[in-house]
Amino acid sequence: MAEAHWTLQINGRSAAVQAAPDTPLLYVLQNDLALKGARFGCGLAQCGACSVLLDGREVRACVTPLSAIGARAITTLEGLPQWHATQQGLRRAPDLHPVQQALIDEQAPQCGFCMNGIVIKAAELLAANPRPTDDQIRAALNGHLCRCGAYPSILRAVRRAAGL
Ligand code: FES
Ligand code: FES
Repeated sequence: MAEAHWTLQINGRSAAVQAAPDTPLLYVLQNDLALKGARFGCGLAQCGACSVLLDGREVRACVTPLSAIGARAITTLEGLPQWHATQQGLRRAPDLHPVQQALIDEQAPQCGFCMNGIVIKAAELLAANPRPTDDQIRAALNGHLCRCGAYPSILRAVRRAAGL
């Protein structure tokens, strides 16, 4: 497909890019915008490593073409603390989203490859449901694969971030 010009709303700013309409958002984030938080894992919407928020809903950037985004707001890991501050009406964005801090506190990351998707999905969950049950946390994170098997500490971290 022929390249076209796109104006994306990313982390509260506009970003102009030139790419074919079927270019996955993940490629643009990593290669054109130097936003490396979202990772390439499977490329097939199976692992969640590439997740971002689109108007506050988690999507898999590896299978989201530029042509499907339109004017919707993209939030990547880099913009998540500010997104959280806006959601919560905070004056200042924290350095880290509470889920990120809780993952560190629980020493959950092993290799860390899955953590972008875990943080994005848990942030989406807690914004909609600030006091989730363990079953709700497990259900939300069900599509996010952690090859290191850090699931118990990830669950503890999400519970910690929720103040449970
Ligand atoms: S890289 Fe997108 S879901 Fe695995
Ligand atoms: S910490 Fe290694 S894949 Fe999850």
